[in-house]
Amino acid sequence: MKKIKVVSIFGTRPEAIKMAPLVKELEKHSDVIESKVLITAQHREMLDQVLDIFEIKPDYDLNLMKHGQTITDITSGVLKGVEEVLGEYRPDIVLVHGDTTTTFSAALAAFYQKVAVGHVEAGLRTGNIYSPYPEEMNRMLTGRLASWHYAPTELNRKNLLAENVSDDNIIVTGNTVIDALYYVTEKEYEFESEELRKIDFENERVILLTCHRRENWGEPMENIFTAVRIIAEKYPDSKIIFPMHKNPLVRDTARRIMGESPNIVLTEPLEYQPFAKLMSRSYLILTDSGGIQEEAPGLGKPVIVLRTETERPEAVEAGTVKVAGTDTDTIVEMVSALMDSKKEYEAMSKANNPYGDGRASQRIVENIIKTFR
Ligand code: UD1
Ligand code: UDP
Repeated sequence: MKKIKVVSIFGTRPEAIKMAPLVKELEKHSDVIESKVLITAQHREMLDQVLDIFEIKPDYDLNLMKHGQTITDITSGVLKGVEEVLGEYRPDIVLVHGDTTTTFSAALAAFYQKVAVGHVEAGLRTGNIYSPYPEEMNRMLTGRLASWHYAPTELNRKNLLAENVSDDNIIVTGNTVIDALYYVTEKEYEFESEELRKIDFENERVILLTCHRRENWGEPMENIFTAVRIIAEKYPDSKIIFPMHKNPLVRDTARRIMGESPNIVLTEPLEYQPFAKLMSRSYLILTDSGGIQEEAPGLGKPVIVLRTETERPEAVEAGTVKVAGTDTDTIVEMVSALMDSKKEYEAMSKANNPYGDGRASQRIVENIIKTFR
């Protein structure tokens, strides 16, 4: 019998982390599935780090990343590159993930080629098309282009139903990020980097910071980094670790505002395994990342979100995540509450996992086999 031809397409670090377990699961079914991986390389080093950890060798690499790339650069490069591959390979289904410009453009290229699209991590919404920008719109448009919607949670399913997506085409799976997190945390791991080995986790309260979002570029990011500098001064027993996103815009702002603080460590992006370990050993996490809001509840780590809105209200409901926005005083206040009050801290640090049981990839692959056989 002919095998089901599946092409998984991704391009940035978070897509790679969340697609890796799915690629692994597709490979397990090589008797019925021919699985190919196409990377756009919207990111380069940050993507390659993830491919290494999960030992994924892409079949196609568009190698698109340029410094200072615009959304239009990415969109047009992905459209053209994906068109060429799909025109030649003709898969039964293309799998895309989440909300990046790779995601939307690859789905559009597949639609132009009349190839079916399966959307992994479908149905998250803030309801504000400028926050996160351009991700909210990317995710909505990908939803319009997709035939199958792999929704992490019931709430995501409801969001899709409200946009008239047929219930028959929505599969609630959990989030593959939990599959990925289990994959890296199952293995024993000691920090390799001297900087991380030096941290005294017993006596220093480690605050992990990540920040990169487009809508935070400029003043909001300056406000965030100023808040972090104030927190570092106010709590000399804290150590703030910022694995800096590779974007020069983010790095320059970080160095300018936080570069001189003795208890702020600015490092290169960490590989997923040390990053996961650092999350699990941190006192609290400050972030504008989407994925980290999903990982932290499972680890029972309080998260202050450096955005005005979140498309992950399940984590807020679980009690682990609070949305601070980007105002300096508010961030300092919310962090201080967690640093000063044991009660406040304990209320936010209960492990609770609204994002699944680590079997999301399995459910997606089962559904693909059922649909195409
Ligand atoms: C992108 C996604 C965002 C996602 C984020 C995850 C879009 C529009 N944005 O944002 O949704 O949350 O990735 O991190 O799809 N760079 C490097 N090396 C790398 C990666 C990036 O040097 O490995 C630098 C390059 O100069 C590049 C810049 O970062 O031009 C920005 O990268 P880009 O993918 O355009 O935007 P992100 O902010 O990373
Ligand atoms: N991450 C990582 N190394 C780092 C910072 C983050 O491996 O130095 C992981 C993190 O655990 C999460 C993902 O990268 O799974 C989040 O990526 P990012 O913040 O770039 O994107 P977003 O989640 O905002 O889309």
